[in-house]
Amino acid sequence: MEDEALGAAPISLPTGPHSFTQRLEGLASAVRARSDLVPRIGIVLGSGLGSVADALIDVTAIPFSELPGWPAASAPGHAGRLLLGQLEGVPVACLQGRLHLYEGHQARLVVEPVLLMGWLGARVILLTNAAGGIGAGFAAGTLMVIADHLNLTGTSPLSGPNDDRIGTRFPDLVDAWSPALRALLHECGQAEGIELAEGVYAGLTGPTYETPAEVRMLRTLGADAVGMSTVMEAIAARWAGLELAGVSLITNPGAGVTGQPLTHEEVLTAANEAGPRLSRVVRRFVRALGADGASVQGG
Ligand code: HPA
Repeated sequence: MEDEALGAAPISLPTGPHSFTQRLEGLASAVRARSDLVPRIGIVLGSGLGSVADALIDVTAIPFSELPGWPAASAPGHAGRLLLGQLEGVPVACLQGRLHLYEGHQARLVVEPVLLMGWLGARVILLTNAAGGIGAGFAAGTLMVIADHLNLTGTSPLSGPNDDRIGTRFPDLVDAWSPALRALLHECGQAEGIELAEGVYAGLTGPTYETPAEVRMLRTLGADAVGMSTVMEAIAARWAGLELAGVSLITNPGAGVTGQPLTHEEVLTAANEAGPRLSRVVRRFVRALGADGASVQGG
């Protein structure tokens, strides 16, 4: 009873110089006990992207809670499973749901799913999310290729001793969001007849939506979209040398833009409405990468 009232005990992770590799070795052997699939692409499916998961074949689905040290996903609309299977004939890993800072998780735990997909073999990571629109051209229903991000969470998944078996102490984030993969996303959108915008994603911790003053601040800072995920994962992916791409599905105008309160239901409804369009882009993107080889950066 008391435990339920307090929520689950926080998960405590090791913090030594090789703690990421230790954790990933344990996680990977738990996955390998269930599947030997080597993914070429790792995809994080945000709200509304269930139809990508439905298109996977020969799937092994592992609930987060069955992997050592991972909690069940608690966010509504997030299934919380790692899926390994074939999408458009390409071996992929998909996260159906993700871990968030607002659930109380440490940043280093939030990024383990993305690092694990890389550890299992993925060279490309595609992050998707639902986000509020900040800029004038970012109305609800817009699909926005992420060109860059603002990490406004006040934290980093890389604080603490650096695990230099994975990446360098001071990773560069210029062109973190691969220009080649961004161009490929636009090509895929065009081929599907689906318009894609491009812009800057601001990541905050949540779980409150922003105040109208914060949305005005974000506009001044150059953000086009705002959300509560993605930036920790992006930082970790680049640290680990993975090629990175992302798409935000704009579900609502940022707080204060319309004068109406924001609700999670509104976000989920809009995500479910636009999700199938994003799914088509994602599937074509996977197909294109599968045909070209998993890396567009220097083969
Ligand atoms: N703010 C933060 N996160 C979000 C929003 C928003 O307006 N919409 C969907 N996720």
